[in-house]
Amino acid sequence: MQSNAIALDSLLEKVYQDARHDFREYKRGTVIRRLERRLQATGARTYLDYMRFLDAHPEEYQRLTDYLTIHVSSFFRSPYAFQQVARLVLPELVSYKRVQRQPSLKFWSTACARGEEPYSIAILLTDFLGNKLQDFNVSIYATDISWCALHEAPAGLYSPKDVEGLPLAILENYFTRHSKGYAVNTNIRQMVNFSHFDLVSTKAPPFMSLDCIFCCNILIYLQKQVQERVLEMLYNSLAAPGYLILGEVETPTNNMDGKLECLDIKAKIYKKNGGSNDV
Ligand SMILES: C[S@@+](CC[C@H](N)C(=O)[O-])C[C@H]1O[C@@H](n2cnc3c(N)ncnc32)[C@H](O)[C@@H]1O
Repeated sequence: MQSNAIALDSLLEKVYQDARHDFREYKRGTVIRRLERRLQATGARTYLDYMRFLDAHPEEYQRLTDYLTIHVSSFFRSPYAFQQVARLVLPELVSYKRVQRQPSLKFWSTACARGEEPYSIAILLTDFLGNKLQDFNVSIYATDISWCALHEAPAGLYSPKDVEGLPLAILENYFTRHSKGYAVNTNIRQMVNFSHFDLVSTKAPPFMSLDCIFCCNILIYLQKQVQERVLEMLYNSLAAPGYLILGEVETPTNNMDGKLECLDIKAKIYKKNGGSNDV
């Protein structure tokens, strides 16, 4: 058992050294379950066999990364959270921006998968602002570790199953039917900038003074000490006031005590208050 744990450590270290993909601080249970499938698929019986396979087939590193990073997502994945962002966050944020005469609105979807989350944010903002959208410079940054997901996301093409359950009004207003499914309309796609960013191994935040950060359904895969590090980085890249949205089953770690005000415990909406900047 212990030798297996040591072999797993060596395998994850090798993946980090050779491919710079760092899964050493992901929760072990998930990593072991997902790795099992790659071992089976490659005919490796042990972690050592699999390390040999990686040496002989370097293209396997990418496949492994795509297996270990789970891309399950959906539009408006947590409908209650999006509803509460529209009720609690957007009115406050927009009125603050108007008072401050700051026309920028900066959002970051930190684990954007195939684009479902950042496009949902773009739709939400467009719906909320209506013809006032043009008064603001909206930036929605969308990052992920998975090149595979990032390769697909900018095209905004989804199967009928991917958009199942979306309200008809959203489908009609923001998507166009095509032969194999649905395409996100160009005006929505143009609001989102996709790029690569690894939340775990990169220490410096890629964006600063953000108004709202979505960090949903990624912390659950990470060990506590990494969750703390990631949240510290996100906190530092938020403006004040600024808002942080976590996934349904995620909560801020202890190092955020006293730094974030909870606006809605069920929707997992938190606010970085900003002294005299407060709304
Ligand atoms: C379960 S999906 C969540 C997608 C979306 N945020 C949502 O809530 O529906 C997790 C995403 O996290 C990404 N991910 C995993 N490790 C990451 C890392 N270290 N940095 C950035 N993204 C990562 C995966 O590639 C995947 O797209």
